[in-house]
This record gives sequence, C-alpha cells and structure tokens, in this order.
Amino acid sequence: AFGADHAGFELKTLLAARAAELGHEVIDLGTSSTASVDYPDFGYAVAEAVASGRADRGVVVCGTGIGISIAANRVRGARAGVATDLFSAQLMREHNDANVLGLGARVTAVPLAMAILETFLVFAQSPGIQGLSARTLRALWRGLTKSNPEIAALRPMMKIGARSI
Ligand code: RB5
Repeated sequence: AFGADHAGFELKTLLAARAAELGHEVIDLGTSSTASVDYPDFGYAVAEAVASGRADRGVVVCGTGIGISIAANRVRGARAGVATDLFSAQLMREHNDANVLGLGARVTAVPLAMAILETFLVFAQSPGIQGLSARTLRALWRGLTKSNPEIAALRPMMKIGARSI
C-alpha cells in the first residue's frame, strides 16, 4: 500500500508504478494531487492497511518521510522507519522487521528512492532476530512503560540472548 501527502505525491506515484512493474499488487491510498493535505491521514491509512493484513508492506512519502512515519507508527502492528540509504533499507527489514518504509521526497532523489524501495521489498527479517524486541514493542504499544514489570521481566532474557547484531 502506498500513501503520501502533497509533498510526496509525485515520488509516491513513481514508486507505486515501479512496484507494479516489479510484479507487486499496488494499493494506492492517495493523495492524488499536489493540493495541500494533512500527512497523518495518509500515514494512518497505509499503516492500517498493513496492520489489518490488507497489504504486506507499506510505503509512505512526505517531504522528509518523518511526519508520515510518525503517524504510521501510531497504528498498532505497523513498524515504520525512514530510509535515506540502502543500508538502512536493508537493516530495517532484517533487524527491525519494518513493514512500512518512509521516504522523503524533499530529501532523497528519485533514483535513490527507487533503489531504497527495491531493497526494502527484497529483504526479509533475519531469522534469530525475532521474538524479544517484538514482544517489547508490543508491550509498549499496549501503553506499558519500560519501568513496568512486564517489560522489566524481558531484560534478563535480552542479556542471555544478547548477540552482536
Ligand atoms: C509538508 O510541507 C511537510 O511538512 C510534510 O510533507 C512532511 O515533510 C512532514 O514531516
């Protein structure tokens, strides 16, 4: 699923076309012009599509990618990160299991944004890096803070399982 505000509209259109070319089924959730809109509406729509299972991945674009990613991260089950380089695009999949990619149309030129998209679509979460971080994130989504015993109880496991990743 793709979404953008007015600043991200043009890049989003190009990225969605590229994803379709690569054989992905594209759901375009707007915006559909460069007329000014409120970016959280589109971050939320994409995140909701991903969290509900209607889409496997999301791509959100605004001026910097930051505002729309913040909005996407308000939806439980969505994990959005901004990438301005290929290494981050790979690692956000492998280490963070990000399911929403944020891109900044005023930051990242079109060819690099295309390559970041392709990287994000190709990589998967590394086996063995699942579990604990995901549980901690889920607890945080439920409104628990790190001082909560449920999260504190996860810490010793983290030390035992700690590996350099
Ligand atoms: C819109 O001008 C701009 O603020 C928005 O696209 C985005 O960059 C916010 O994070």
